[in-house]
Amino acid sequence: MPAIRRTRGTESSRAASAAAAIRPAREGEIAAVVDVLARCGFGPTVAPLVEFPRSGEHGEVLVAAADGTIVGAACCESFGETGWIGALGVAPGARKAGLGTGLTQAATDWLRGRGARTVLLFATDMGRPVYERLGFVAEGFATAWRGSAGSGPAPVALRTLREEDRPALAAADAAATGESRDAVLAALSPLAGVAAERDGELAGWAVASPWGMGVSIAADDPEVGVALMAAAARSPGSTVLIVPDGNEPGLDAVRRWGFQRANGGERMRLGPAVAWRPERQFGLFNLFWG
Ligand SMILES: CC(C)(COP(=O)(O)OP(=O)(O)OC[C@H]1O[C@@H](n2cnc3c(N)ncnc32)[C@H](O)[C@@H]1OP(=O)(O)O)[C@@H](O)C(=O)NCCC(=O)NCCS
Repeated sequence: MPAIRRTRGTESSRAASAAAAIRPAREGEIAAVVDVLARCGFGPTVAPLVEFPRSGEHGEVLVAAADGTIVGAACCESFGETGWIGALGVAPGARKAGLGTGLTQAATDWLRGRGARTVLLFATDMGRPVYERLGFVAEGFATAWRGSAGSGPAPVALRTLREEDRPALAAADAAATGESRDAVLAALSPLAGVAAERDGELAGWAVASPWGMGVSIAADDPEVGVALMAAAARSPGSTVLIVPDGNEPGLDAVRRWGFQRANGGERMRLGPAVAWRPERQFGLFNLFWG
């Protein structure tokens, strides 16, 4: 891991980040990681989001530490040929000293060490210039919407997901994401969600996860996708649906139902494009690993 030494920037950032080291988080440091990410504007959902890379064998939490104080953090989740960087932040007093860049580079190296040809992330407006300088390219915005759904298209048959749906679910997920997300799909246990059927075959599914606020929804066509969105967000309390802006029927549905925009991020990649099909993605787990 690189030791970052800086020569410019404000006095406070100089003090906070002088000779900061970027390294994996140690046992007992996760509370400090969550605290620094909270100060970076990540909401209360960041703690469960950090938990998945921290506790699983396919993820890592990196920190920037100066004089024993954690001043920045980034999380990585490996899906083999693809890998994601998320929850990356540097404490306000330690910014503009190269730590955001250093954390991104270290996370990229970690993912490439596990086979990533393409590194992906969702960028905020603040993060985007940092990633662009490192060669990441934008490939489409995703927006998190909050609300309660109206009715979906009538003729779609919905039922509860079953364990035996796992192979078809994984195939539909791969067709939508262009990735092999076994690490996250295997961790969804018990499998709880909604399945859509066409002619006795799985035509789409919707699953929430314990780590993020969204609902992952993959579907073969817009009718099935919007029906699953309606089923996932039908409670009177509000539900978060994170929809790629490139999915027009999905976007039309949340607007029609009166959902409010909560936040969003620009999907960016470093490396070759994956066979991602936003028109099949009607919901994302979160704005970390999609
Ligand atoms: C985005 C974020 C992580 C960047 O962290 P950072 O440590 O400031 O990043 P860097 O220092 O590597 O780069 C930031 C800027 O400082 C500049 N910089 C880097 N080293 C410098 C130095 N020694 N002296 C002066 N400026 C410097 C960079 O050129 C860059 O310039 P820009 O303002 O034109 O973009 C931070 O602003 C943050 O936590 N934001 C809130 C959370 C967030 O949006 N996270 C991104 C999620 S995708």
